[in-house]
Amino acid sequence: MAETLPHSSAYQTDALIASDIDAYLVQNQNKSLLRFITCGSVDDGKSTLIGRLLYDSKLIFDDQLAALEADSARIGTQGQAIDFALLVDGLAAEREQGITIDVAYRFFATEKRKFIVADTPGHEQYTRNMITGASTADLAVILVDARKGILTQTRRHSIIAHLVGVRNLVLAVNKMDLIDYDQARYDAIVADYRAFATSIKIAAFTPIPISGFKGDNVTTPSPNLPWYAGPTLMAHLETADFDATVAQSKPFRMPVQWVNRPNLDFRGFSGLIAAGTVKPGDAVRVLPSGKATSVARIVTMTGDLETGVAAQSVTLTFTDEIDCSRGDVVVAADDPPEVADQFEATIIWLADDAMLPGRPYWLKLGTQLVSATVQPPKYQTNVNTMEQLAAKTFELNAIGVANFSTDKPIVFEAYADSRTLGGFILIDKITNATMAAGMIHFALRRSHNVHRQATDVGRETHAALKNQTPRLLWFTGLSGSGKSTIANEVEKRLNLMNRHTFLLDGDNIRHGLNKDLGFTDADRIENIRRVGEVAKLMTDAGLIVLTAFISPFRVERDMVRTMMPEGEFIEIFVDTPLAVAEARDVKGLYKKARAGTLKNFTGIDSPYEPPEQPEIRVNTVEMTPVEAAEFIIRQVMPLK
Ligand code: ADX
Repeated sequence: MAETLPHSSAYQTDALIASDIDAYLVQNQNKSLLRFITCGSVDDGKSTLIGRLLYDSKLIFDDQLAALEADSARIGTQGQAIDFALLVDGLAAEREQGITIDVAYRFFATEKRKFIVADTPGHEQYTRNMITGASTADLAVILVDARKGILTQTRRHSIIAHLVGVRNLVLAVNKMDLIDYDQARYDAIVADYRAFATSIKIAAFTPIPISGFKGDNVTTPSPNLPWYAGPTLMAHLETADFDATVAQSKPFRMPVQWVNRPNLDFRGFSGLIAAGTVKPGDAVRVLPSGKATSVARIVTMTGDLETGVAAQSVTLTFTDEIDCSRGDVVVAADDPPEVADQFEATIIWLADDAMLPGRPYWLKLGTQLVSATVQPPKYQTNVNTMEQLAAKTFELNAIGVANFSTDKPIVFEAYADSRTLGGFILIDKITNATMAAGMIHFALRRSHNVHRQATDVGRETHAALKNQTPRLLWFTGLSGSGKSTIANEVEKRLNLMNRHTFLLDGDNIRHGLNKDLGFTDADRIENIRRVGEVAKLMTDAGLIVLTAFISPFRVERDMVRTMMPEGEFIEIFVDTPLAVAEARDVKGLYKKARAGTLKNFTGIDSPYEPPEQPEIRVNTVEMTPVEAAEFIIRQVMPLK
């Protein structure tokens, strides 16, 4: 009869755990901590294997894990930093919003080592969970059902594990009992995997034949596998090389999590040391500003340290009063990382909604949060053939390469050198959903080579000559709402007041500058981006600019807002209900859209997101265009 395997929250009694958990934890602190992930297709036998590993070792409650982690982070001598934790952060933030994302972390220990295993579901729709688990793992156990061999999910998971920096791969050929422990079949699977591994530049992996169900070769060598001379899975996990001290030998980096200012006499900068070591007196720089100073003290909850090392949470104080805040990175002064605003990266798309090239997303890298837009993919990777495919966008679970740019320079390192400063996530600005995980390859050279040219006649000079303050009056509303008509009335009045103006109108711009664009979401985003840039240049020239575009998406309107100096962007919502705009149907387009001959029409089969807090709202049901124009003028040009 098969033994019953323990449930995850079961409790395998151990005298010490039962009688004195603190003593047990202390004993465990002296062992190294290996984080690993099990992955593979559904039904490859993950749960059984994990159950078996727990069964054959000492199992403690899942909720004790948190306490243990906090402990080892404080002590900081074991294991690696909980790096790339930002991904976990992002997913946790999302979980708070009610979307259930599940990675179960289980803890167990043997005489030699402690283990945290990330247990994630095998279905393709749970790829994101797998990435979360893999992003902090030192080792991945790729499970294969010996009867089925290498499957698409095996390849996908191997690629992801490799991409997120797991350098230690085990190919566990499971269910050997079901193929009568057949060596030839096992060899064929290993050869198959080797060919694939070589194609994605995985240098080495450790193949092990096992049966999670029967227990063959999991913790004890199996008499059923006399032809196999290698280690058991547990023996491999206990001895696998993973150098927890590598991070310590790198140059010093600490992303600042918060500024610690309990009173006026103390100003410290707290964070988790991502790499290297730090001592009082060390010369450091605060990036991106580049300001130099030196470390005065390294403060912790349990007193000052002589040396801070990677994986410790500390608070640094400096010898000078310099600007430093959350999102900055404190680094070794003589070996700083790069700062840039344009990059190439591998992107794994995790959301149901496809990527919109040009749309601004939040980009979170360590403690840095900036706005970023991704360009159309350079290519997408077919995980079965490793072919590079052309793609216009990334859809759910797509893996590929694209360039992206950020609105502010960020401090980074290539992901291959630093998971903490090279890994990022993209977040939807409205829903807060995690859209993608990314790994930076390098900064684009043009970001270093294209500098802004300072000009002597600046925007103030232009504006002063025209005796006015530049403004951008951004009209938004449905097609047929009256944007162009009202904007035109406003411009006439401004001219009578001797103001220098220019009106950019959707229908006109789409005949010239933007004649290559249609009405898909992506094209509308590009339309607004270009109009925003042109309008910005015109305000730099000192003009009062009026724009009349549907501009249906909040995020892009907000993007233009942030491009402008504070107070210069004035959003004017021409608030006309759909029924009214449709009844007017000045251009006959609503009729066509309803008949189905005009696709992607705003309000019909393409969305319109009304402004939440426009500076000005005009109700065209209650006001005539002339009244609306006068209403706007009164607010924009008070008493002038
Ligand atoms: S936006 O969405 O990208 O801001 P824009 O203001 O430039 O749109 O252009 C809208 C104008 O294009 C409308 O007033 C209408 O005359 C015309 N048009 C043609 N096709 C469409 C469509 N599918 N959806 C909306 N407007 C359309």
